Amino acid sequence: MYTARTFDLPELKGLSTKQIEVHLALYEGYVKHTNLILETIKKLRSEDAEKNAFVINELRRRLGFEFDGMRMHEYYFEQFEGGSTVASPEGTLRKLAGERYGSWEDFIGHIKEVAGTRGIGWVVVYFDVVAGALHTAFVNDHELGQLTGLPVVLAMDLWEHAYMVDYVPAEKKTYVEAFLENVNWTVVEARIKS
Ligand SMILES: [Fe+2]
Repeated sequence: MYTARTFDLPELKGLSTKQIEVHLALYEGYVKHTNLILETIKKLRSEDAEKNAFVINELRRRLGFEFDGMRMHEYYFEQFEGGSTVASPEGTLRKLAGERYGSWEDFIGHIKEVAGTRGIGWVVVYFDVVAGALHTAFVNDHELGQLTGLPVVLAMDLWEHAYMVDYVPAEKKTYVEAFLENVNWTVVEARIKS
């Protein structure tokens, strides 16, 4: 049903090829397991939906983890495609960041602050069409705490697998810096839809 995407990634600053390869392999695992859950539910329902109800229910609960794991990694790797760029000075992203956080620098500072949240998950910047404003949230695992219906603008993976080929856990802040240095902000800005 879903096919793992490939990404045209440049050489990254502070993130090795090995690190990215390991991470892409994990991404492919989420695609595989999303398909596996969907196929297994279908099979169990066709065999005996009533008898298999408990297992089907548990698989349905698990779908959000695998699906969001797949989709969040697609947002993540896409952001490196084309290489790092500076956010357009007159662009929507810089304007919204200024309105919400005071300045571009404050916006970046806020992302780093949220990245300091203990535990594994993601820092996600969303655009709320209703409020016409950015939101920055910490999402546990891949799915817990997502703000419903809001397009993802920036997705920063803060699972240890995202950086532990290159860094140790105490160096998470260095990884955050490396991540931000490699972002193609043009890709990020294009995700803002009104
Ligand atoms: Fe990841």
